[in-house]
Amino acid sequence: MPSSVELYLQYEGLIVPKETHSFESLQYAQQFKFKDDDVVAVTYPKSGTVWMQEILPLVLNGGDLTPLNTVVNWDRVPWLEETRLAKVVDQLTSPRALVSHFTYNLMPPSFHTSKAKVIYVMRNPKDVLVSSYYFHQMASFLEDPGTFDEFIEKFLEGRVLFGKWTDHVKSWRRAELGDRIMFITYEEMIQDFPASIRRISDFLGCNLTEEVIQKVAEHCSFKSMKSNCMSNFSLVPKKYMDNDKSPFLRKGIAGDWKNHFNSEQRARFTSEIRKELEGESFSLPWSL
Ligand code: A3P
Repeated sequence: MPSSVELYLQYEGLIVPKETHSFESLQYAQQFKFKDDDVVAVTYPKSGTVWMQEILPLVLNGGDLTPLNTVVNWDRVPWLEETRLAKVVDQLTSPRALVSHFTYNLMPPSFHTSKAKVIYVMRNPKDVLVSSYYFHQMASFLEDPGTFDEFIEKFLEGRVLFGKWTDHVKSWRRAELGDRIMFITYEEMIQDFPASIRRISDFLGCNLTEEVIQKVAEHCSFKSMKSNCMSNFSLVPKKYMDNDKSPFLRKGIAGDWKNHFNSEQRARFTSEIRKELEGESFSLPWSL
């Protein structure tokens, strides 16, 4: 089994997969020129990134399904830090949509001087961990997760992609971006998807009609995405992502952690996360 040294790059104290990142792509991200009308959805991995790659183009273009049907998700709304961005950047039309797993301190200088907007999507970290655990089993470019117990320790210590969940959330919650940033949770989107789309649309100044909001909700549902080869990763060769081991679009629900954590694991996880967030001015929208 390949070791983490073979699989990952170290970048500013974080680990990122070599399969999708390179020193050049990380450098490229630092030199990337944000435009005022850009929008970037920022997430800790497994919090709903690919979902945002589905939603943003439709919200920005008034519900035109063409990008969903013709462009794979990773080119449609590319990752700021991944190797694909340099290849597709010239094909992106304004207003451009990007995604990123960067912590706030890693955002490039042009982001800070622009008016680009951020949608920060947060998900219950116990569900993030479960989703990540399965993702590590299906993606050959990620380290074997070990046992669930072992993976909990790795996650809490930040020995996983993009570091500690708490550091990620803290960095963005502390960012003083005023009305340039909107916070939304995965759970909120699950609970009332049309209302969430409306919030996103209002934040981006798109003012979609109810009819278009319903259309976006329908085409960005878990079911629709699962059957769209441009969004379900079925076009990725099996040697990289084995959807038979665990599909990328796995369950798409809130609360799957209840099927995985025992009471001891939950207590340990909760107390560590609480400790890490002690003294922060924000509170989490879920009881851990
Ligand atoms: P599960 O593994 O819990 O199913 P990311 O894109 O950040 O890697 O996050 C992946 C998670 O988002 C997976 O969670 C995936 O199923 C879920 N997801 C993607 N699209 C979704 C949708 N339309 N509705 C609900 N969940 C979705």
